[in-house]
Amino acid sequence: MSKQLTGIGREISNRDDSEILSSDVKPLEIKTTREITVAVMGAGSRGNEYTAYGKLFPGTMRVVAVSDIDASRRNAMGDRWDVPQERRFGDFHEMLEAGRDGRLADILIVSLPDALHYEPAMEAMRQGYDILLEKPMAQTERECMDLLARQHETGVMVAVGHVLRYAPYFRALKKALDDGLVGEVVNIQHQEPVMYAHMAHSFVRGNWHDSKATTPMILAKCCHDLDILKWLVGRSCVRVSAEGGIALFRPENAPAGAPARCTDGCSHERECPYSALDIYERKRWFLYVFDLEKDCPSDAIMEKLRTTDYGRCVYRMDNDQPDHIVATLLFEGGVTASFTMDAFTPWGGRRTRVMGTLGYIEGDGKTFTLHRFDTGKSHVWSYVPPEGGKYRDSGHAGGDLALMRDFLQAVDTRDFSLLSSSLDASVESHVMGFACERSRLSGGKASVTHLGNAPIAPNMI
Ligand SMILES: NC(=O)c1ccc[n+]([C@@H]2O[C@H](COP(=O)([O-])OP(=O)(O)OC[C@H]3O[C@@H](n4cnc5c(N)ncnc54)[C@H](O)[C@@H]3O)[C@@H](O)[C@H]2O)c1
Repeated sequence: MSKQLTGIGREISNRDDSEILSSDVKPLEIKTTREITVAVMGAGSRGNEYTAYGKLFPGTMRVVAVSDIDASRRNAMGDRWDVPQERRFGDFHEMLEAGRDGRLADILIVSLPDALHYEPAMEAMRQGYDILLEKPMAQTERECMDLLARQHETGVMVAVGHVLRYAPYFRALKKALDDGLVGEVVNIQHQEPVMYAHMAHSFVRGNWHDSKATTPMILAKCCHDLDILKWLVGRSCVRVSAEGGIALFRPENAPAGAPARCTDGCSHERECPYSALDIYERKRWFLYVFDLEKDCPSDAIMEKLRTTDYGRCVYRMDNDQPDHIVATLLFEGGVTASFTMDAFTPWGGRRTRVMGTLGYIEGDGKTFTLHRFDTGKSHVWSYVPPEGGKYRDSGHAGGDLALMRDFLQAVDTRDFSLLSSSLDASVESHVMGFACERSRLSGGKASVTHLGNAPIAPNMI
């Protein structure tokens, strides 16, 4: 370690134990000085999740323009917000075109597929929108740098969809570290358990199965985790190294005689945990992807399984995303972290262990326990929904709507500091992801070189 460490308790030892983990869980409700107008590109799952804020808290925001190539999604959102027909656009280029003589709204939510973030964000910044840009922000490091340069040039506000930074659990964890409750952070172990069926749904059969058409798994799924690690450590990352690959979802692992689709009378279907019939028809998981409700007729699901990739055998897909990744990260000052992404778990969420000079924290995404070496005491922090559970829990442990809240408030007050997932901060963690992927593919190591807060260029070493 290049820094000086001490295991001697600091003034924190004298603090009242009962309050040691109190965190500032902000209420979900805010009042804005005006109704902020919103244009949405991509009226799918994420577009709907963020704009749900305006229905929970009327008067804060209103959707005034929507773009989606899927007419039913476009019109569902358009009808929900009474968007005039002339402000309902198909392809996102039409919305950009309509904004050339003046932006259509105060803010733009870019919740399009991964490959369609860079182009609209670059043009929308030029048009003067403040942007909520879904992660991953772009498909290459060069594009990330372009976005950052354009944002600095235009001075607009950009929040990247790193929703975990806004989740009460991670805010409390971050506060505990910033308050020095574990002393100096020496090492973090962090796991992203993807969950076996979620892996099959999103990264083998689904939208993210092809890393070249979207982004590599380490960005598509894990950019949240690299971002959280960097944020928790509070230092720049200087070196990464990664391993991993596809252990299971390969043609050679298909059971004998398995047909191309689970709907084609596969004799292994009943015992296969990845059976599309089991996941979608019997368990009724992930039906949002078909815009179907849980109580829909079986026929509606079967039709989707016969005609879309979601009915295909997991061993016979054109997937290239790894089902396990192990990465080690070195931060300035010698702080280390290890990260694993694991498809083969029964649950999703996050698991984190923080090792510090004065204490240890172990958490599961909802609850964490601090063990202090100086007092010998343990303290537990548990998630309590804001406003006592008055509002529905949003995704990512409450992070989705909390990000929308902070973004609206930041736009309303022009206080950029309300956004912790700024473009500057997010570019750094994206660069870490690209470096991890290079390392994984080359079997070598990659370094991430930083100058203050600005990543210059990641180099192979
Ligand atoms: N922040 C997070 O935690 C998080 C979670 C899930 C997904 N995401 C990201 O959010 C983005 C959107 O994901 P999603 O799950 O909402 O996907 P989705 O498929 O539900 O929604 C995307 C929408 O974009 C529309 N679309 C596609 N091409 C278009 C075009 N050319 N013009 C206009 N509309 C077009 C589609 O019809 C679809 O309705 C992705 O980049 C994804 O990686 C982020």
